[in-house]
Amino acid sequence: MSIESVILSKVKESPFDTRELSEKLKIDYNKLIQAMKSLEYNNVLECKIKVSNEIVLTESGKKCLTAGTPESRMFYAIPENGIKKSELMKQFGREGQPTFGQCMKCGWIRSEKIETKEQEKEKEKQPQQKGKKKKKQRPDLMLFRKVEEINDLVLEDLKIIHDRMSEKLNKKTLDILKRRKLITTIQTKSFVVSKGPEYEKYTTTQKIEYQTCLKKGMLQKNNWKSHTFKKYNFKSLGVPTQGGSLQPILKVRSEMRKAFLEMGFEEMKTNRYVESSFWNFDALFQPQQHPARDAHDTFFMKNPKKAKQIPEELMKKVKTTHEIGGYGSIGWRYKWSEDESRKNLLRTHTTAVSSRTLREISKEPFRPRRFFSIDRVFRNETLDATHLAEFHQVEGFIIDKNLSLGDLIGVISEFFGKLGMEKFKFKAAYNPYTEPSMEIFAFHNGLNKWIEIGNSGIFRPEMLQPLFSGTRFNDYQEDVNLSVIAWGLSVERPTMIQYQIQDIRNLVGHTVDLQMVKKGPICRLGFPRKVIKEKKKE
Ligand code: PHE
Repeated sequence: MSIESVILSKVKESPFDTRELSEKLKIDYNKLIQAMKSLEYNNVLECKIKVSNEIVLTESGKKCLTAGTPESRMFYAIPENGIKKSELMKQFGREGQPTFGQCMKCGWIRSEKIETKEQEKEKEKQPQQKGKKKKKQRPDLMLFRKVEEINDLVLEDLKIIHDRMSEKLNKKTLDILKRRKLITTIQTKSFVVSKGPEYEKYTTTQKIEYQTCLKKGMLQKNNWKSHTFKKYNFKSLGVPTQGGSLQPILKVRSEMRKAFLEMGFEEMKTNRYVESSFWNFDALFQPQQHPARDAHDTFFMKNPKKAKQIPEELMKKVKTTHEIGGYGSIGWRYKWSEDESRKNLLRTHTTAVSSRTLREISKEPFRPRRFFSIDRVFRNETLDATHLAEFHQVEGFIIDKNLSLGDLIGVISEFFGKLGMEKFKFKAAYNPYTEPSMEIFAFHNGLNKWIEIGNSGIFRPEMLQPLFSGTRFNDYQEDVNLSVIAWGLSVERPTMIQYQIQDIRNLVGHTVDLQMVKKGPICRLGFPRKVIKEKKKE
């Protein structure tokens, strides 16, 4: 039976609700609405919209149905001979403490104090240390099951909601489940469908076969006049067209690239993920004992472990500058190691690309130039909501005579202005390779607060002079003051703000929401401003 005939026979008995019918008969909801709308348009049916509130399970609520409630999982996670509370908490992360409270409330577990040897000693010492205030360490607890079996009432309630019988539960129970974010109220829209003025005529003359379009055969047989054609529904929105779209990071990247190109910037070559410590750190006057060069922060390569091709002359200059300085500096004053410098790594920032580019362009006659790059960098980070071990950086620099902090502020304001930001603040900061250095903050109209968007500065002579040594820039700069202003930021951070993504991990791999990619607005970093203005008008 076609959907149309189902609708017609149902409505003959009594008016019906579209959601209920689609669930009862397992008819695809969209197809049902399509058929209904078409009949409504021909006045065969009358449809009234109905808005109702429905209580449904949230994602965590649904998870409870399959994996059990957090409190029951915690109960079963306690082995027969008990477990230390700290260990149990580790397994449950952020949910640990509230779930523990829940278990205690249900009377499912009991706890016993245990004291470590250190704490016992501490206690003994205490009378002598009366005057001093020492931070008290909380004693760990040992947890045991208090009952053999549990009766998980919360799970029972959730099942009732899953079966759409929430009216069986009282308000207090529902409020508790809501507070625990296991259930939520959603608004559903459906249609109440009844017979329209043309219903009788339509159903009695049903034998008429409605044609949707003029066909070749009808013309050949010249019988098209005897067919009844269905009316066009010009109000129908039609099927959305399919098409590819950019992943959010790439979308923001393309917008940033556009901003740079409009401002006359050239793109740097970023094809080296594997870089030597020399170009990533040493050439940037970053001392070898700098914490960022630790294996905890940087991924060092096992194979090939060492870089072979580093320009000898330049290396000597960099070594001297680190050890004893020059160009008005006293250097870092330590024994510089070539071995350390040759260690290969996954580049930790795209400033490594800038240092290489500066060396390259200094071999040609000087002209003022602007460069940018947008590509991947790597840091040995523990992954969490705001950190990835692999992310993207945007980098820009300008080389010219007598550039000042004013130029830097101006160019940054122009660049970020193109991305939709207007108000900026600059705060003094520190980088081994820039002096002065500034953190950049922008006022985000959508979030209504200042957010940090990047880092910047004027490259130090200790970085630039060794790079220019023996090049054409070196001769040129005898009479002029060549300077380089630069800035950098991550691509992920503005992308998260733009698309209101709370967890950076949702920007990569299979967790990217494809609907968001399709429906997301054209990337304008300050875009919510318009929304706010419109709201104010109301
Ligand atoms: N490399 C810096 C970072 O990784 C950014 C930066 C670039 C700072 C250029 C100053 C100048 O955060």
